[in-house]
Amino acid sequence: MRRLWLGLPFVVLAIPAQARVTAAPGARVFRLDGNGVTYALGIDDKGYLRSIHWGGAVAESDPIVVPIVTEPSSFDPTPTVTAQEFPGQGEGLVTEPGVKVAFADGNRDLVLKYRSHRVDGETLTVELADIAQPFTATLRYTIDPDTGILARSATIHNGSRRPVRVEQLAAAVFTLPSGDDYRLNYLTGRHAAEWTLKTVPVTPALTAIESRRGLTGHGNNPWFAIGKEGKTAEESGPVWFGALAWSGSFRISVAQDVLGRVRIAAGYNPYDFAWRLKPGETLETPVFYAGYSDHGMGGASRTFHDFQLAHILPDHARAKLRPVLYNSWEATAFDVTESGQMALAEKAAAIGAERFVVDDGWFGARDSDRAGLGDWTVNPRKFPNGLKPLIDKVKSLGMDFGLWVEPESVNPDSDLYRRHPDWVIAFPGRPRTEARNQLVLNLARADVRAHVLGWLDRLVSENDIAFLKWDVNRRWTEPGWPGQAPEDQQRLYVDYIRNLYAILDTLRQRHPGLEIEGCAGGGGRVDLGMMARVDEVWPSDNTDPSDRLAIQDGFTRAYAPATMMAWVTDSPNWANTRVTSLDYRFLSAMQGGLGIGANLIKWQAEDFATATKWIAAYKTIRPTVQRGKLYRLVSPDASVSTSATMYVGRDQRQAVLFQMLHSSMWRDNPGAILPLGLAPEQRYRVRMLGGGALPAGIPTIASGRYWMTQGIRAPLKGDFVGAAFVFEAAP
Ligand code: DGJ
Repeated sequence: MRRLWLGLPFVVLAIPAQARVTAAPGARVFRLDGNGVTYALGIDDKGYLRSIHWGGAVAESDPIVVPIVTEPSSFDPTPTVTAQEFPGQGEGLVTEPGVKVAFADGNRDLVLKYRSHRVDGETLTVELADIAQPFTATLRYTIDPDTGILARSATIHNGSRRPVRVEQLAAAVFTLPSGDDYRLNYLTGRHAAEWTLKTVPVTPALTAIESRRGLTGHGNNPWFAIGKEGKTAEESGPVWFGALAWSGSFRISVAQDVLGRVRIAAGYNPYDFAWRLKPGETLETPVFYAGYSDHGMGGASRTFHDFQLAHILPDHARAKLRPVLYNSWEATAFDVTESGQMALAEKAAAIGAERFVVDDGWFGARDSDRAGLGDWTVNPRKFPNGLKPLIDKVKSLGMDFGLWVEPESVNPDSDLYRRHPDWVIAFPGRPRTEARNQLVLNLARADVRAHVLGWLDRLVSENDIAFLKWDVNRRWTEPGWPGQAPEDQQRLYVDYIRNLYAILDTLRQRHPGLEIEGCAGGGGRVDLGMMARVDEVWPSDNTDPSDRLAIQDGFTRAYAPATMMAWVTDSPNWANTRVTSLDYRFLSAMQGGLGIGANLIKWQAEDFATATKWIAAYKTIRPTVQRGKLYRLVSPDASVSTSATMYVGRDQRQAVLFQMLHSSMWRDNPGAILPLGLAPEQRYRVRMLGGGALPAGIPTIASGRYWMTQGIRAPLKGDFVGAAFVFEAAP
């Protein structure tokens, strides 16, 4: 189903599939429909553009009515209780505005009313204008017919002859009907502990999911999902969700208004934000993507994953499956040498790796994190003949070659910094904080942008590099832009990210085969802005396979498993000293894009045999894991000993169920797990991933309905053990 129309409330009965603009002035309604979702907005008698409906489909034959709001009291006048789609900060508004400005004459009252609209295919554009000043906000809406995901953004324009100071700007504001049972879900964490799902009640106390760090950050991801207490579960009930496609400081605020409705505003973080909008200039927001599912958190995430695969990721559905990669970081850290990397490459190829990635330490005077960052020339002591001999070796072993870079940072102990001390973000004359002995290059500057693009372009042109791991390892502090006018200092927050995007876009355009992994000290910059420009992301530096199950559970609430890398590393794990078997490590890491990060030089013969077996097994289920539908059957949680995930191929011909036991208690085995997503009438043959006999009592073949009602159970015992069942369609 796909339609977008504009119609009169009360009188619209049979709405044509295509856009339609009614002639009636004053009381127009706009609606966008896709995949069982309707989003509706309308213009009221005072000219406000109002939110009307976001949720399940409204029948074409049913009216969509602009609600009548009466002033609850003299303390809450009508303009502030009107659920405006994009309110200006004016008329005493006390909810979060879409935009807040100060005009040159000192006026800070902005009242936005409907001026015009346009419909182009599946895009609706509505222009709002201030009641007196030549200042407009143009709102853009599109809906994806296949997923019902709405894309919203806004552009403001200063039509006056004097500059306007913009103090706050959202991409979108949403309203949900009044209710005290809304629950907000968000993802939070810190370095090596990202992606923890938190759930809090939505109350009149504003909750801000935000980053003030200059980059997305480990702290809060720019994603939310709102459900209803007692109604929303993993596979049932309503969920409204969304994510901002922005990789800098952001804010998503959620609060109940005075009438109990939920108001959600998402955009640039107003914290430390200011933008001098000169006469005739515009400022555009990133896109906020929003969706609705009545199939719970699982339905919401599957819908969002589908949308990301089809519309966000580079090359979309044509994108290649993630190769099995080897990365040297945990094996060698900065101790990178040609011979050492060649030895690792030989062993990685032997177990089935398809890509070999040299991490930090290959360039400049980079023997530790204290020096060299910024000097992107191959270290001649470590690679006397450049990278070519290693790349040739890697390619002769049947793998492609990848390299780690951190283009946005600089060590003060580097030639680059000695040449350009003014290129870093800082307040002149003030102390500067160093983190990991590094400073942030001011990408907002045109010369820095050109320099970074220049050396990256040369690096990729001169070497046979298939893949870059693009890392950044500190947040911003003292966010000053030396040399910039005081009124334009805070453009840094926007110009930096726009230039980051421009570098990535240009690089990809000049090197169409190049793949990129997004990394920020683990998962510090995962968002839809980056995802449009990278092929995969590194969710966390925490490679412990048990912690990783929780990380993967949180990550997939928002983002597609196709982008989610994990490595099998050595045991005990560096993060928590936990000891786990190699089997368990593989079963955990192969639930997205599989990588190996262990020191293969120390491995024994049986480790190579185990790894070879699991990598081969992974390749038999890779399209299902990376491109299928994910069901989080049992989420890892301190209160349960078992967790389980299931990936079902899009044609339902193959599915794989991972069952992981955290720790045994008593003599108990975990109970049966009920699969989801199989075709009920289809018969499936079941096998153990990696070989071996099925546990006693499990039939080898049965219908999807049988498996989904009877369940399946691996007789796991011990701590940190797992098993995976593969279901293959059988005649
Ligand atoms: C942080 C990344 O997350 C790690 O994987 C590794 O690349 C280091 N940086 C290298 O400095």
